[in-house]
Amino acid sequence: MHEKSLSHDTFCSTSQIDKSGPFPYNLCGMSNVTLHVLHSRDEIAERVRWLGKQISQDYQGKFPLLVGILKGSFVFLADLIRHLDLPVQVDFVRLASYGDSMESCGKVKLTKDLELPVEGRDVLVVEDIVDTGRTLKELLEELARRGPGSLRSCCLLDKRHRREVPLDIDYVGFVVHEGFLVGYGLDWAESYRHLPDICVVEPGTQSSEKAGPDKGAGP
Ligand code: IMP
Ligand code: MG
Repeated sequence: MHEKSLSHDTFCSTSQIDKSGPFPYNLCGMSNVTLHVLHSRDEIAERVRWLGKQISQDYQGKFPLLVGILKGSFVFLADLIRHLDLPVQVDFVRLASYGDSMESCGKVKLTKDLELPVEGRDVLVVEDIVDTGRTLKELLEELARRGPGSLRSCCLLDKRHRREVPLDIDYVGFVVHEGFLVGYGLDWAESYRHLPDICVVEPGTQSSEKAGPDKGAGP
């Protein structure tokens, strides 16, 4: 982990956010939040390029359908597809894995389905972070029922020590052990997705907003 610890205000101002309107100020309106950079934008870019190369090799001559899990995967997926030396299609699902509580309730609900058919396609599911594994496992089971030609998964961040269900992920960016992560698409109570680096929220810091359903376990 990088030595540097950034106060939230400092981080916002170094992230080149336009502070002229009310929106960025709302984003910055979370109190007592300290973030540490875990994976810098350069490390992420290098790893995403590497993942793109692996996937391009493995899918040579194919036309895969990449399925991003909203919302967290949108930044990762956007970067990943630009490192693919392949024709691809992209679609999204939205899954609500957690209720209002801070911990997983173990149930996954499909709140937005795919728009493209899966039958016979080479499907690659793209996820930002895998924690207990329940979200990805349930989605893979649902997609398998639709008869894809092949079905694989890719995640940028793998909290494998927290796994509660068995899961083999085909492409993994980083295995992570540190606590709750934000940035590069990952949120805490819907904030921080815009940060270019992946950061750890320092334990004990508090959000002024209520945690939302896409948060995973809070810090
Ligand atoms: P799982 O079903 O427990 O594997 O939960 C995966 C989902 O929880 C991810 O798609 C994220 O939305 C969320 N999540 C888990 N850990 C984190 C984290 O450290 N930061 C942000 N979101 C997280
Ligand atoms: Mg997610």
